[in-house]
Amino acid sequence: MEKKNIDWSNLGFAYMQTDKRYVSVYRDGQWDEGRLTEDATVTINESAGVLQYAQTCFEGLKAYTTEDGHIVCFRPDLNAERMMNTCKRLMMPVFPKERFLDAVEQVVRANAAYVPPYGSGATLYIRPYLFGSGPVIGVAPAPEYTFRLFCTPVGPYFKGGAKPIKLCVSDYDRAAPHGTGHIKAGLNYAMSLYAGYEAHDRGFNENLYLDAATRTKVEETGGANFLFVTKDGKVVTPKSPSILPSITRRSLMVVARDILGLECEEREVYFSELKDFVECGLCGTAAVISPVGLIDDHGTEIRFPSGMEKMGPVIQKLYDTLTGIQMGRIEGPKGWVHTI
Ligand code: PLP
Ligand code: COI
Repeated sequence: MEKKNIDWSNLGFAYMQTDKRYVSVYRDGQWDEGRLTEDATVTINESAGVLQYAQTCFEGLKAYTTEDGHIVCFRPDLNAERMMNTCKRLMMPVFPKERFLDAVEQVVRANAAYVPPYGSGATLYIRPYLFGSGPVIGVAPAPEYTFRLFCTPVGPYFKGGAKPIKLCVSDYDRAAPHGTGHIKAGLNYAMSLYAGYEAHDRGFNENLYLDAATRTKVEETGGANFLFVTKDGKVVTPKSPSILPSITRRSLMVVARDILGLECEEREVYFSELKDFVECGLCGTAAVISPVGLIDDHGTEIRFPSGMEKMGPVIQKLYDTLTGIQMGRIEGPKGWVHTI
């Protein structure tokens, strides 16, 4: 397979149109058989549910070239399941898991020339999404839905790659108690744009969101979950019903406990505890593990002892092990790596 002539090592996290994408439409109570298409443009009715009432959700996963030259993706079954949960909450028909996995495989195979080579630092980001494509005018679920899945080669999510980033505590909330923070609804991201703009404008990479009810507990950022390391080397991650259940975070807790032999805790994390942690990182498909060097709370800075130059040692070990599993250098738990 001849690869496209792309400067892989200098890719940012941006959209690049690739050759083929998958589409399936839900009408009269069933999904059609689905197909690959070259058409990257979506044509929908002016009153489509997605356009009027934001009835839409998405997923994000990656394909990698392993050391021995296979193309694999990481735990795509969990993305399929999470999308099913999201769809139920948004009154959209679920796209069956087997069909989701088949769509991933078809699209990655059809765009194999865009899968970045092993060692290039880039990966193929896969974006499944599902939205109300039929017309509504009263507030109601749409009568028709579209599932699509495309892919695009990407580099690091945060500029500078593995350099520690700076966060600020947001004045806005990401998710209401009993709201939609635990699902991957497009609306969660639309409302984060203004908060993200303000954070960037003030020189920060991302927002730290607190719990909306008490504003005392750490939730997550706009696109990743938190990991902290205590002085005695324990890995701590916030537990909350209003954060997105990150597949990367769930995997890292297994890596930490079962492969690295570290103690792990998933529990409520108070903002007041942050000053006692020695390392901090953000984890997610796009973020992988991005080290955090500093968190600003309206002028009061928390600086982690790991500093602004490199990852701390525990976060580095987690990063090396996770990416080692994803790129086929380290054997992970059964079923984590899905060969295409
Ligand atoms: N939190 C939010 C709000 C996200 O958008 C994402 C990205 O999907 C994550 C966390 C990380 O989840 P995952 O590790 O499944 O990509
Ligand atoms: C991902 O990590 O896949 C996400 O969806 C995060 C998004 C903000 C890019």
